[in-house]
Amino acid sequence: MKVCVIGAGVIGLSTAQSIYQHFHGRVSSLTIEVYADFFTPLTTSDGAAGLWQPYLYDKGNVQETQWNKETFDYILSCLRSPESVKMGIFLQSGYDLCTETVPDPSFKHIVLGFRQLTKRELQMFPGCSYGWFNTTVMIEGKTYLPWLMEWLTQRNVTFHQKKIGSFKELADSGADVIINCSGVRSGELQPDPDLQPARGQIIKVDAPWLKHWITTNNFSSGGISPYIIPGSRLVTVGGVFQVGNWNRQNCSVNHKEIWEAACKLVPSLQHARIVEDWTGLRPARSKVRLERETIQSGPNSFEVIHNYGHGGFGITIHRGCAEEAARIFGEILEQKGLLAHSKSRL
Ligand SMILES: Cc1cc2nc3c(=O)[nH]c(=O)nc-3n(C[C@H](O)[C@H](O)[C@H](O)COP(=O)(O)OP(=O)(O)OC[C@H]3O[C@@H](n4cnc5c(N)ncnc54)[C@H](O)[C@@H]3O)c2cc1C
Ligand SMILES: *[C@@H]1O[C@H](CO)[C@@H](O)[C@H](O)[C@H]1NC(C)=O
Ligand SMILES: *[C@@H]1O[C@H](CO)[C@@H](O)[C@H](O)[C@H]1NC(C)=O
Ligand SMILES: *[C@@H]1O[C@H](CO)[C@@H](O)[C@H](O)[C@H]1NC(C)=O
Ligand SMILES: *[C@@H]1O[C@H](CO)[C@@H](O)[C@H](O)[C@H]1NC(C)=O
Ligand SMILES: *[C@@H]1O[C@H](CO)[C@@H](O)[C@H](O)[C@H]1NC(C)=O
Repeated sequence: MKVCVIGAGVIGLSTAQSIYQHFHGRVSSLTIEVYADFFTPLTTSDGAAGLWQPYLYDKGNVQETQWNKETFDYILSCLRSPESVKMGIFLQSGYDLCTETVPDPSFKHIVLGFRQLTKRELQMFPGCSYGWFNTTVMIEGKTYLPWLMEWLTQRNVTFHQKKIGSFKELADSGADVIINCSGVRSGELQPDPDLQPARGQIIKVDAPWLKHWITTNNFSSGGISPYIIPGSRLVTVGGVFQVGNWNRQNCSVNHKEIWEAACKLVPSLQHARIVEDWTGLRPARSKVRLERETIQSGPNSFEVIHNYGHGGFGITIHRGCAEEAARIFGEILEQKGLLAHSKSRL
């Protein structure tokens, strides 16, 4: 049973991990290979701040809320281990600010200590009349991805730097199951009009005195709604969300807009040293695509499991999606009669 994962961002690596954890030793000669043209530190997952932060409302997509929750609970359980520092995960508290009164978000019961802001807290943020405080987890891609790669390498998962032109290419080289975790460029392998880039630009600064994250939801702004997220070394300042924009270059106009809005929110930022700009493309989709497809290729067929379209919350949802992809993989094994025990543990 040869599994080829396309993509070495947080989605591809964590999916390889879940498959190994559930099926190693239960299928004879299970081989897992990861193919990608970019590895850490050059993926979108590396640039993301890494805040566990779903969108405010799930709009009835309870499945994604469930995967977000599974990820949160998994990371919380890992925090009890000394490994957590090598994983790049830690707790962090902060403020979620709104310019008007809105219903509580879908995640109020997932994060820790969710509460509404007091008048005194709101006075610190002119223009914001409502908001919440909570404690959540950080999962820093620049540390978490190397940790995942080391974990997988120790278990004989192999990595191949290669641009994949078609699923067939891998099927012809002997792949039984292909897992498609190719992020925003998934559309190159199979057209998907529902998948779009949502361009983000951020500024990394040195400001060690900032200890809380602050995110804003400015419902009347034309695009800039600033956020400030302290990481283990640098603070991430954002951001924009430009749907349909494929431009990966840093834009000086965006830089200026983001910086001005963020300094208005937290004036002490004016004294922060700017370290770098970074631009990335979120794989935006109406919902995550996580499903199985059987592809016919001449007389043969192979299985593809799609796992892409995680928008601005790929880190937040990764583990729940990886576990679901592993469950689908188990279904395929069962149908092929390859499982040592017929009952899947998932
Ligand atoms: C500015 C910004 C800030 C963000 N902040 C957060 C945050 O705080 N919290 C959060 O949860 N999310 C955040 N996100 C979203 C998050 O970064 C994405 O949802 C996540 O990184 C998607 O992961 P992925 O593994 O699908 O894609 P990627 O990390 O982009 O990985 C895709 C992989 O597929 C490979 N690939 C693609 N096509 C091919 C091909 N044809 N052949 C071979 N390899 C291929 C690439 O080389 C790469 O290895 C942010 C995004 C941006 C842009
Ligand atoms: C907790 O904070 C995160 C980060 O801003 C936010 O995405 C999430 O919605 C907050 N949760 C609640 C319940 O407010
Ligand atoms: C990895 O492969 C080597 C060589 O094939 C083998 O000796 C070793 O037992 C394998 N390790 C694991 C964890 O599968
Ligand atoms: C992966 O999925 C994306 C989105 O459907 C698709 O565009 C791409 O062609 C797929 N990759 C392969 C190798 O099929
Ligand atoms: C929200 O956006 C509007 C329009 O850009 C701006 O005038 C206002 O100052 C912003 N409010 C806050 C709190 O940033
Ligand atoms: C964006 O700016 C940073 C330095 O601030 C640089 O390292 C990076 O290469 C730039 N990105 C692009 C696409 O030019």
